[in-house]
Amino acid sequence: MSGNGLGSCAEAGAPVRAPVGVDRVWPEASETFVATPDVQGLAERALRYLRAGYPVHFSGPAGTGKTTLAFHVASQLGRPVTLIHGDDEFGTSDLLGSDHGYRRSRVVDNFIHSVLKTEEEMKTLWTDNRLTTACRNGDTLIYDEFTRSRPEANNALLSVLGERILNLPKLRRNGEGYMEVHPEFHAIFTSNPEEYAGVHKTQDALMDRLITIRAGHYDRATEIAITAARAGIPDAAAEVIVDIVRELRSIGVNNHRPTIRACIAIGRILASSDAHARWDDPLFRLVCRDILNIDTAKVTCGGESLMPKKIDEVVRRMSASGMKRPGGRKG
Ligand SMILES: Nc1ncnc2c1ncn2[C@@H]1O[C@H](COP(=O)(O)OP(=O)(O)OP(=O)(O)O)[C@@H](O)[C@H]1O
Ligand SMILES: [Mg+2]
Repeated sequence: MSGNGLGSCAEAGAPVRAPVGVDRVWPEASETFVATPDVQGLAERALRYLRAGYPVHFSGPAGTGKTTLAFHVASQLGRPVTLIHGDDEFGTSDLLGSDHGYRRSRVVDNFIHSVLKTEEEMKTLWTDNRLTTACRNGDTLIYDEFTRSRPEANNALLSVLGERILNLPKLRRNGEGYMEVHPEFHAIFTSNPEEYAGVHKTQDALMDRLITIRAGHYDRATEIAITAARAGIPDAAAEVIVDIVRELRSIGVNNHRPTIRACIAIGRILASSDAHARWDDPLFRLVCRDILNIDTAKVTCGGESLMPKKIDEVVRRMSASGMKRPGGRKG
């Protein structure tokens, strides 16, 4: 994450394109964005709530497609997007704005040569920050991982989302102390309730103003389509990888991992190494062990991790050539 809390969706081949390093972007879906009925169903619900004037919050474990969906939904609203990434170091001024430097004017009165009179006036210069800009211009605000910011930094959102008024308390020396929020202003939040590192509890008052849509892992068909599109591999290979990952999710202590990111990573490595999603391809077996082991390593027997064996067993079962998987094609 960049120091100013700005981020981008501009990773190579990302499903939603947005330029890097600018405060306001116009996201557009790229050819790798997958819109199965599962994805569309979530997007339509969110759009319905946003158009009725409510902020939407996608809440779910890592890798369930929350940020991608937020960008997709924002692009449907047809307004510029202001992006903020939650950050523990954020204060109110990072959202609203602050005084940056000052303007100094100096008058020198030297009318009588033996007398020098100077007058100085200093005015502080206010610079709007992203929330203020978004509220003024009617942008769609995407506040990604907003629970990473401390709750007091997010207080300014309460009146924005409730009364549609942005309070600029004392910070702004010039101009009025509040601002009416543009009617086209919309807000989309994402957070991960499973995360325990570096996140804060959110004030009830903020949660109460959001419509929270729980995001879980997509259905099998969607995960296959995303893996095939993002890794550039055939559907049949994506099926094998997704079935392995879904099976491993049901084992062990964390049923949310491995995620779709592991599917995409395995698929990309296969594609770039000219390897195949088959048990008899040694590279595939190794890549699966390396990428999938970390998530499931906590299952032990006599102090030894059972997972390498378990992974091998699942990979063999799901990918053995000629084997028919439920609902799948031949590996
Ligand atoms: N509809 C989609 N079409 C194509 N790719 C997708 C889609 N949804 C998610 N992905 C891909 O799946 C991966 C995870 O998605 P994303 O980053 O949106 O998840 P997330 O829930 O925001 O995860 P985190 O909580 O870790 O930030 C990304 O590589 C993303 O490109
Ligand atoms: Mg995300």
